[in-house]
Amino acid sequence: MASHPPVEAYDEIDSTNAEARRRAEAGDAGPIWITAAVQTAGRGRRGRAWSTNRGNLAATLLMATDAPPVEAAQISFVAALAAAELADTCLGEGVARLKWPNDVLIHGKKAVGILVESGARPDGRLWLAVGIGVNLAHAPQNVDRPAAAFAEHMGGRAPEPLAALEVLANRFEAWRHAWATQGFAPVARAWTVRAMGLGQACEARLPNRTLTGVAEGLDPDGALRLRLDDGTLERITAGDVFFGEA
Ligand code: BTN
Repeated sequence: MASHPPVEAYDEIDSTNAEARRRAEAGDAGPIWITAAVQTAGRGRRGRAWSTNRGNLAATLLMATDAPPVEAAQISFVAALAAAELADTCLGEGVARLKWPNDVLIHGKKAVGILVESGARPDGRLWLAVGIGVNLAHAPQNVDRPAAAFAEHMGGRAPEPLAALEVLANRFEAWRHAWATQGFAPVARAWTVRAMGLGQACEARLPNRTLTGVAEGLDPDGALRLRLDDGTLERITAGDVFFGEA
């Protein structure tokens, strides 16, 4: 298997995604992994903050793709699978479950967050900044949803962030290669095996409305199929989903 892209490690940075964006906007196409022991302004989805203290992993892959934007967004499922496989190596096979679109949960609590940012390059391709935050040692407190850390569920200590990144980057490269050569189907299949909440009651909080129904699965492009209470089918492409949670 091809080795993963090079890693550039900082002790402290504002946000590895912000650094990837700065580089992309200066013309850098990567691929490169950017990581930092501490993020002072880590960012999460939907404008939320993401705290990274020493012992946790914050890493962003800057890469370029020929795929159109809707297809390129599928990279977040590649990232979720890689992170779940990192969790397998620490916690045991299958302990980590995936929640649409790309959260990784341990016993129902979020342990990994993924934020993909993108933009147009002068050569017509897209740059992607695939940011992955893994709560290896600490679960942040005072967040709006319960969070977990790998260390809480391991017999010993959680791996050092750079060692964890080595595993993550290798698993990411394997799934990215499958996606690039075989399309989204194998990624969607593997994601579905690990998905939580399929076949269950689901509330989808979208930017402008909330829908309730049953989550049926992934559409071929990664949208979540939600069978509404009135029987109609809705494709969820953005927002947060909740399964039997408060
Ligand atoms: C989420 O809200 O679930 C997404 C969190 C993404 C956090 C990661 S940590 C590495 C990268 N740098 C950032 O500033 N954010 C992402």
